[in-house]
Amino acid sequence: MVQLEAGMDRGGLTRRDFVARSLLAASVMPVGLLARIANKSPEIQPEEDWVRRARSQLPVTRESTYFQTGAYGPSPQPVIDEIAKRLAFQNRGPADPRFNKPMGEIEPDLRSHLAETFHVGPAGVALTHSTSEGISIAAWSLNWTEGDEVIISNQEHPSNVIPWYLLRDRYGLAIREINLDAGTSLLDEVRDKLSARTRMVSISHVSRNNGRRVRTEESADLARMLRARDIVYHIDGAQGPGCVPVNFHELGCDCYSTCGHKWLLGPKGTGAFFVREAALDRLQLSWAGAHSHADMDYEGSYTLLPSAARYEFGTRALSDFAGFRRAVSWMQEFGLERIHTRIQDLVAYAIDRTEQSDKLALTSPAAAEDRSGVFVMRLPDACDALTVYKSLSGDPKILTSPVRREGDLRLAIHFFNTEEEIDAAIEAIDAVC
Ligand SMILES: Cc1ncc(COP(=O)(O)O)c(C=O)c1O
Repeated sequence: MVQLEAGMDRGGLTRRDFVARSLLAASVMPVGLLARIANKSPEIQPEEDWVRRARSQLPVTRESTYFQTGAYGPSPQPVIDEIAKRLAFQNRGPADPRFNKPMGEIEPDLRSHLAETFHVGPAGVALTHSTSEGISIAAWSLNWTEGDEVIISNQEHPSNVIPWYLLRDRYGLAIREINLDAGTSLLDEVRDKLSARTRMVSISHVSRNNGRRVRTEESADLARMLRARDIVYHIDGAQGPGCVPVNFHELGCDCYSTCGHKWLLGPKGTGAFFVREAALDRLQLSWAGAHSHADMDYEGSYTLLPSAARYEFGTRALSDFAGFRRAVSWMQEFGLERIHTRIQDLVAYAIDRTEQSDKLALTSPAAAEDRSGVFVMRLPDACDALTVYKSLSGDPKILTSPVRREGDLRLAIHFFNTEEEIDAAIEAIDAVC
């Protein structure tokens, strides 16, 4: 089934070939699976042209059933080609103005494109190499003193935990943890942990552990509450852009760390840090270097760039940033809104399928406004998530991820996935458990 699916998406198939192969696939499918496919909700049609077109440009769809976008997003061929083209161009003369000058346009173009797409002020985007880099920019931006407090949640990635451990050990910072399991109230949780010593709140926009999405309105309410107390509000958005709608301005936070290499399907090792322009001077630099400054002399004077580009420094992988730009526009060619809607529909389907199973339960929130493409299920007690992950990634080549809570397994469901892939994964999980 998985192999046939992969074959269907090889570029250049005619409609007739596609139908013929689908019939062949149907003839070897289990009866139960056939019935479910026949009953599938009409709004999700994997054979829709735009999805098939996207899949034909994603080499990953020919190799595996890929539910690991939450770890590493698979890049489409136009992105891979763009990186190769730019790298070859640059190396015709990296310091030669004929090549150096056009390469120098890549970063400003990407910054302004990200600003426009995600509603950040024009001077509010720094290009980084990962979400973790942005988180560290935020974490080290204050002059912490012993007894200061940060609030994080119980759903964070190690990248939004380790920097706080370091600051705790170095400066005596205290870490307070809120509970963002499905069904808790973000505002109440934060309110409960606030103190006169709280200086920063740092939480995930979309949790990699349970897929819960912080709603834009609740984030805006939280931002108001924190700003009134002069507390910095940082969001870890590794699982945000490309997965759920992101409007930085409406989220209301001071800064937002994200990456190009997950749901935006960009090159690995690309990221961005969004900053509210009014917060630029508050979020001080801990690392800097050539290109962070607007002016300097060797007598001790310097002026930082007036924009978030001040957080960048040194020589950088420009062809990768060109690939990041191409990835965002590739997604936009299909339509970010359409992509988000399809992710929601596929996740609704996965929820239905999980509820039909007498072995599996839901860890992710069920309500549409709280959920995301990060779909996490609870396995039965006797079933170990690591064993399931290993067993599925072997022969059926279905790539899933174990997450923090033992017994939870994640399917990162992107728009290029299909109902048939969800069926195949759930049946395989059921069989292993
Ligand atoms: C919520 C979250 N934060 C941070 C990270 C780290 O991302 P990066 O590799 O871009 O630093 C991840 C990666 O999976 C994540 O899921």
